[in-house]
Amino acid sequence: MLEDLRRHLLWQEEAGGRVLRLDARRVAEQRGGGIPRPAVMLRAQQTQAPQEQPAPRAPVARMAPQRELPPARESRPAPVARPAAPEIRAEPPRSEGEAGDRPTLDELRRELVDCQRCKLCSGRKNIVFGVGNPRAELVFVGEGPGAEEDLQGVPFVGAAGQLLTKMIEAMGFHRDEVYICNVVKCRPPGNRNPEPDEVKACEPFLRAQLRAVEPKAIVALGKFAAQTLLRDGTPITRLRGQWREYEGIRLMPTFHPAYLLRQPAEKRKAWEDLQQVMKVFGKQPGKRG
Ligand code: URA
Repeated sequence: MLEDLRRHLLWQEEAGGRVLRLDARRVAEQRGGGIPRPAVMLRAQQTQAPQEQPAPRAPVARMAPQRELPPARESRPAPVARPAAPEIRAEPPRSEGEAGDRPTLDELRRELVDCQRCKLCSGRKNIVFGVGNPRAELVFVGEGPGAEEDLQGVPFVGAAGQLLTKMIEAMGFHRDEVYICNVVKCRPPGNRNPEPDEVKACEPFLRAQLRAVEPKAIVALGKFAAQTLLRDGTPITRLRGQWREYEGIRLMPTFHPAYLLRQPAEKRKAWEDLQQVMKVFGKQPGKRG
């Protein structure tokens, strides 16, 4: 608990000297719904990979009564060769009542095993699918794995990841109660930007992940996440800080943590963006200390 508080204060100090008033009270709101979502059809492939555990929503502010169970962490991807994965294809929108047939995260993960849909497959050590609570109410979407993520098969575990973890905790969440993923699941060599064909190949999986998690809010970290999800080429400097809608889900574009490491003065703006997200969850916005 003291460690949590220390981390909160650390990020706020970095974010511009703001002090977060910790709100221990969980706000029990109704979870929003009734939004038609497009489906993704799996060309049936059931492998021996373990089934995704039915995981609870994080016990944070929400709009519907939730089971108060601890959040579950997804199992790590196994970096072993498997039979070629079937393709994924988009389907027309369906109604909320048909939501039961959307692929789960584990099904999607299995679809990506040994993925060779783009040239990034040749240099990767691991596919970096996503991590966190499969029923998270808050999802963070980054750009693509770096060297450390590629090694570990887990998103946001390098320097930018450490900053993201501080940001998440400063917002009053634990890292394992949110869900974290990237636009591309394999490391672009030399940490270059993902190329359009790579984004195009991976994007259906990102969209399907978001459909599987069905969060209450999405934070798009940096231009690739924001522009890909919104299909909007506006620079991130103009997108950030404005609520947008992604398939009926609130989406907040903000700066990528790697950019914030290079431009620490911009942390104040990112913190303002994150405070808007906190409000949705009934978390208290920071106050000047
Ligand atoms: N940057 C990203 O966009 N994603 C990661 O997983 C790590 C760094």
